[in-house]
Amino acid sequence: MKRVLGALVIGWAGAMIAGPAPPDRAASAASPLAFPGSGAAAPPEMRLTPLPLRAPEPPDNPGTAEKIALGRLLFFDPILSSTRDVSCATCHSPRWGWGDARPVPIGVGGAGVGPARMFVGPSSLPVLLRNTPTLLNVGFNGLVSGAEPAAAAAPMFWDSRASGLESQVAIPIAMVGEMSGAGHQERDPMAEAVRRVQDIPDYRERFRKAFEPRAGQAVTPEHLAQAIAAFERSLITPRAAIDRFLQGDTMALSAEQQRGLRVFQDAGCVHCHGGPMFSDFKTHYVGVPDSSPGGQRAFRTPTLRNLRYTAPYMHNGSLRTLREVLTFYDGLAEAVTETLEGGGASDRPPLDPLLKSMRLSDEDFPALESFFDSLSDATYDTSAPSTVPSGLPLESTR
Ligand code: HEC
Ligand code: HEC
Repeated sequence: MKRVLGALVIGWAGAMIAGPAPPDRAASAASPLAFPGSGAAAPPEMRLTPLPLRAPEPPDNPGTAEKIALGRLLFFDPILSSTRDVSCATCHSPRWGWGDARPVPIGVGGAGVGPARMFVGPSSLPVLLRNTPTLLNVGFNGLVSGAEPAAAAAPMFWDSRASGLESQVAIPIAMVGEMSGAGHQERDPMAEAVRRVQDIPDYRERFRKAFEPRAGQAVTPEHLAQAIAAFERSLITPRAAIDRFLQGDTMALSAEQQRGLRVFQDAGCVHCHGGPMFSDFKTHYVGVPDSSPGGQRAFRTPTLRNLRYTAPYMHNGSLRTLREVLTFYDGLAEAVTETLEGGGASDRPPLDPLLKSMRLSDEDFPALESFFDSLSDATYDTSAPSTVPSGLPLESTR
């Protein structure tokens, strides 16, 4: 039985998921094995293909070694926060898959790292509502099969409200609850961060080497953002077991993982979690409660790469384990039928129609979890600098 299944999977993998096929070939290869449970075939951009070896860059920001090294120091340096004790790595830490292993993060006003981070004393700052996403492979945001992505258009945040890594950088620096703090609304937090960085000779030197300096000013907001973005683009995991499998190494996935992959396709997960990033980068409402003003809403499909290191899950960090996520989807089936038939609670938006054909059985959970392991790459970059040019302590930021 196993042997038969293995042969089927390999044949099917070769026909359906290895490499980009022209649309007509993809269509003719759409045997009933492709998505037997899903009713509708997943669109061609959701074909599973390996991650490219480099993330796309904007033409004006090539990732040179000097720039990436500079961006890395800035990323870990608390000098960018008004309180000088929060860095990007406070929330996006290599220790926790470039996230923070918390349901929602604590920025300024907190102390400690990861799950142990707490507010010091009473805080008047607004509570942050969104789970910190991993930055692993963030340079590939927006990438689907068969499309040449533009780095500047890469969707950012759970609701895709920003585009491109370069423009994203200023947002956490200016956010009251993340890095700028209360009472700083009247200042320009980015300009202030730039001034502080500019005052440090080591940084001035590094900016000069990484960029053509503008007359008289080594450090500019644009260059600061470009350096950090170039560093973020270096955080990639294109050699996970699934990538090797999709390149034709059929031994890269165990029999159980291959079964999990089949379940993943048959259950219809691949309609949204497809393509090289296991995300369509579109927003969907799948029924996860949201506590922001305005109530329930759609969020961007998260990547499923490196899930092993990025618990807890969902936009609000409400599900602690992958088993809880699978149980959540299992319970959706009924709710979907209800809302699609016009029933259900009317104060909520209808559940996404793509969930309609989802078939999931709890007997398949172990195979799915095993398949998720093949999307995780334990060799991801976990390094952190031991010192930063500001000389500020790093204990609370990595
Ligand atoms: C206080 C914690 C915190 C700090 C500090 C922080 N971030 Fe984030 N980051 C988050 C959260 C939470 C989100 C998701 C917010 C949302 O979607 O509304 C996020 C989202 C992002 C994203 C988008 C990822 C994606 O896939 O959509 C990028 C890129 C990012 N942060 C980079 C940075 C950089 C660069 C810095 C430092 C300049 C930084 N962050 C500082 C918590 C933090
Ligand atoms: C209609 C599109 C859609 C389908 C179909 C779908 N998902 Fe999702 N998935 C999403 C969205 C959107 C989120 C984030 C929801 C939120 O937080 O509000 C998500 C979140 C997740 C997460 C959490 C990831 C993280 O980092 O937080 C996992 C794991 C997951 N889905 C697995 C699956 C599996 C397994 C299936 C099939 C049984 C599936 N999904 C089917 C759209 C979809």
